Amino acid sequence: MPNIAIDPARCKHCNACVEDCPAEVFTFEKKGSAPGVVRADHCIVCGHCVALCMHGAIEHSDFPLGTVLPINREILPGPDALMELLRARRSARVFQKKPVPRDLLEKIIEAARLAPTAHNDQGTQYIVVQDSAELKQIVDMTGAFLGQTAKALRNPVKRKLFGLLDPNGVKSAWGMVGSFESVAQAVLDGNDMVLRGAPCVLFFHADPAITKPDQSAQLAVQNATLMCEALGLASFYTGFVVAACACGVRFPSLAGMPPGHRIYGGMAIGYPKFGYNQWPDRKPAQTQWV
Ligand SMILES: Cc1cc2nc3c(=O)[nH]c(=O)nc-3n(C[C@H](O)[C@H](O)[C@H](O)COP(=O)(O)O)c2cc1C
Repeated sequence: MPNIAIDPARCKHCNACVEDCPAEVFTFEKKGSAPGVVRADHCIVCGHCVALCMHGAIEHSDFPLGTVLPINREILPGPDALMELLRARRSARVFQKKPVPRDLLEKIIEAARLAPTAHNDQGTQYIVVQDSAELKQIVDMTGAFLGQTAKALRNPVKRKLFGLLDPNGVKSAWGMVGSFESVAQAVLDGNDMVLRGAPCVLFFHADPAITKPDQSAQLAVQNATLMCEALGLASFYTGFVVAACACGVRFPSLAGMPPGHRIYGGMAIGYPKFGYNQWPDRKPAQTQWV
């Protein structure tokens, strides 16, 4: 449990912390006095209180002095700049044969780390694979996995059995069986249709016992994707690779993952060979306003 206190000498009695804390750690005492700290044991360490209090009145053991820094609002993108970034981001699949420098990968992970996480668990962890032999193993093992999966799906008895366990999963996999087969065959022919020659894969993994590990990891992936775009790098979501992991394929490069952890996301990253200067529109949003 964190130690939380309010310095009465600094507190201006605005009670914003009382209103804003999602865990209701603080309570209104009386007009003109500092709020009380009543439920520190409920604190999810989100940092809202220390981010909010401009008077530095909140002392929180997880956010010691010097760890809460001001936001430079002058450099925040406006809605137009943000929308343009969202339009500019594309899944690129043709990469230059050039490694991604470590400082850029660290920036990408830093962006991922700042994504929201369920219950503020912050449990998503990362593995960066850049070694060419390890990358080749990921490609080969994923290709083999896709080939075996397609073969099993083509067997009506197996398909029916799998369908009893996971009807939606089998329906969607069956719709992609042709693509599984062509990717598997391409890999056998020495054509990397899995990572598309990307020089780097970033894996997102977590302990499945944390709150909503999958959803939290996907948000981290999206942050990382946008940072790639901002850095002039390209990426795509390695869905086949993640599916292989989910079905028990263990790449040697992931041997250092803590026991029990699962892969929830993966991104191929590299310098793009081509730039996209135009954006094709998406389907219109199907929205109900109630
Ligand atoms: C969950 C998920 C899995 C994906 N898996 C793959 C993949 O295995 N290989 C690939 O080339 N692209 C993959 N993609 C990228 C999509 O094909 C791509 O996002 C979509 O075609 C839209 O294109 P855009 O990202 O360029 O806008 C995946 C995307 C998502 C969200």
